[in-house]
Amino acid sequence: MCSSRLLENIYRDIFGELKQSSFPVERTGVKININKKTNPKVDVIENDLPTILSRRRCTRTVSQEPIIVSQLGYLLETSLGVTKKENNNIYYSVPKAGNQRELVYIIVINNVSGILPGTLYEYVPEELTLYELNIQNGSFFYEEWESNAAFNIIFCMFRECRRNYLNNVFLTSFEVGCCCQNLQLVTSSLGFGSCISGIVNINEFYSYFKELVPLQSISIFKVKNDN
Ligand SMILES: Cc1cc2nc3c(=O)[nH]c(=O)nc-3n(C[C@H](O)[C@H](O)[C@H](O)COP(=O)(O)O)c2cc1C
Repeated sequence: MCSSRLLENIYRDIFGELKQSSFPVERTGVKININKKTNPKVDVIENDLPTILSRRRCTRTVSQEPIIVSQLGYLLETSLGVTKKENNNIYYSVPKAGNQRELVYIIVINNVSGILPGTLYEYVPEELTLYELNIQNGSFFYEEWESNAAFNIIFCMFRECRRNYLNNVFLTSFEVGCCCQNLQLVTSSLGFGSCISGIVNINEFYSYFKELVPLQSISIFKVKNDN
């Protein structure tokens, strides 16, 4: 067995045994359109890329102030959105191996105005839509800053990958890194905070999403100003 396949198998074993299929989780029928063109304008506090880069940080001081839906939409569309559709190709603001989207974006809402805390959505960038999932109050996180964040994104891949590459796990992990970098730069440009986390409560996660492997998560929030 070649070493990348071996490593991939080990990686899958680490994430537990394959159980009955349950994803896509039932959608409730509620959906949120996040198109920048149709939502209220979001104020960007910094436009200069070197300055935005110099301010990129993992911060963990979370304010209780909520973010609004158009800010959530702006963050998702700008960082993880579709940039161009041409012939049968879809291009994204994050690079994709084979230009195929393997990642699944699960959004856990905690403090976004007008959305019930604990509501979960799947973000589908091709449709600029958040689909509410029929799951409430999963406690996926261990850290206070994660539970108190305005929202968290759990980056996942299917156990049975859609792309047929031997080293797909590594390619997909690289793509998550690109997603996090984009998100941290866009949060920095809005003056918001974010922190990347490598740990979610696996057992809780698998009790809802049996077919998905959670790779990493990121928390996004307004920053508490102690002054
Ligand atoms: C793949 C990855 C996993 C991480 N996991 C955690 C984590 O589980 N808990 C945490 O507090 N920070 C985590 N971090 C954030 C790092 O601790 C943080 O990036 C590092 O301290 C450097 O700080 P900076 O991002 O502000 O430069 C993670 C970062 C990366 C890239």
